[in-house]
Amino acid sequence: MDKFVINGRNKLYGEISVSGAKNAAVAIIPAVVLADEPCVIENLPKIKDVSVILSILKHMGAEVTFIDGDESRVRIDPTGITSHKVTCDKLVGDMRASYYLLGALLGKFGKALVPFPGGCSFCERPINLHLKAFETLGAACNILPTHIELMSDKLEGRQIYFDVVSVGATMNAMLAAVKVPGKTVIDRAAKEPHIVDLANFLNSMGANIKGAGTDVIKIRGVERLHSCTYSIIPDQIEAGTYMAAVAAAGGNVLIKDVIPEHLDSITAKLRDTGTIVEEYDEAVRVIREDELKSCNVKTMPHPGFPTDMQPQFVALLSTAHGRSRVMECVWESRFSYIPQLRKMGADIIENGNIAHIYGKQDLCGAKVHALDLRAGAAMVIAALAAYGTTEISDIRYIERGYEKIIEKLSSIGADIRRVTYKENVDE
Ligand code: EPZ
Repeated sequence: MDKFVINGRNKLYGEISVSGAKNAAVAIIPAVVLADEPCVIENLPKIKDVSVILSILKHMGAEVTFIDGDESRVRIDPTGITSHKVTCDKLVGDMRASYYLLGALLGKFGKALVPFPGGCSFCERPINLHLKAFETLGAACNILPTHIELMSDKLEGRQIYFDVVSVGATMNAMLAAVKVPGKTVIDRAAKEPHIVDLANFLNSMGANIKGAGTDVIKIRGVERLHSCTYSIIPDQIEAGTYMAAVAAAGGNVLIKDVIPEHLDSITAKLRDTGTIVEEYDEAVRVIREDELKSCNVKTMPHPGFPTDMQPQFVALLSTAHGRSRVMECVWESRFSYIPQLRKMGADIIENGNIAHIYGKQDLCGAKVHALDLRAGAAMVIAALAAYGTTEISDIRYIERGYEKIIEKLSSIGADIRRVTYKENVDE
């Protein structure tokens, strides 16, 4: 087992580059299943979730080749995928986004049989809206003991209305509808940058999708999807996490390879804390010299403040002067990591979907767990700001979504290293 050991209070200086977006990559890779020719995907993040979804595609019969041995550029030939059944249960159960295979296989074969997805389980994560979208297009959905089965005689373009805004259901509806005859309209679609990226990727293959990034997405089904070369957008949440890390630790860091507009809500909240954020064409500079000020944050679907930055901000605001209030409005509960922050001295009271944070500047190192991907990132941020040494276990969650986090943070002056330990010996 490995853990991160972080000695806090080093200010951060220098430059850091952001990798391709995880939540775009994990939808775009399954989307290749729909293509009738090989595709090249560039700017892939080198993270566990990407290697798992690539392994699933290989297992299904796709040919997956890294170009010149570079893991950020992959050629995927899906023509060997001849079955609608996914049989690698263990791999599928390793990640949430394996649910995109449902939409992709339904779109390709008119049927799908996919094991239940896994992934970060900070709270219940239903897929009823995904199934509703498939049913609207004409599929029958059966929930079997270990699998989800989709069957159809004939799929037809229809109007899909979501009463809850859902990233996954919007993506899955797009995947299922892109080759379906007629016109599909997705009402109350999610608008996250990765929704637009998936639509752009599908359009690069010849799909006809309009309106991605707005509440209404219109899709005219096409018969074939051809080859393309496509570069994934930068990871909004990885960028936001490093922005919060600099704000927590103090210093002056240029965060490169970002789309600053995707960071608007994060930038606005960081400015509320007194952190300086300068925006450039493809970079942001984050400067924090003075004491952080408290602020209130409410998570919302894009363009609101992203829920995937909520734990990192709670960690940050634990070190700010005054009382902050963070309201989680996307997930029913996403505060299970707060007791871990309390071990470091954070003063936080939860009340339903609200966390009241009484900031203090003297968090101290402790032994904590990364309970999920973003909760783990929050521990890293708290540790960078804390006095003394923090040991974070269960780092496999963090490594599911952050490429080379140790190397990136070390390069800007953080004292962070990975150590291998025997389970239960020093816990
Ligand atoms: C995506 O999950 C992301 N995961 C999550 O990021 C992110 O937190 C979430 O979107 C919200 O932005 C991936 O992209 C792989 P949703 P998703 O469907 O699509 C309710 C991370 O840390 N809902 O937008 O599964 C649901 O309960 C991960 O990178 C239904 O009620 O989330 C929630 O309250 C964690 N029925 C809300 O919608 C459904 O069928 C939004 O969920 C689906 C969702």
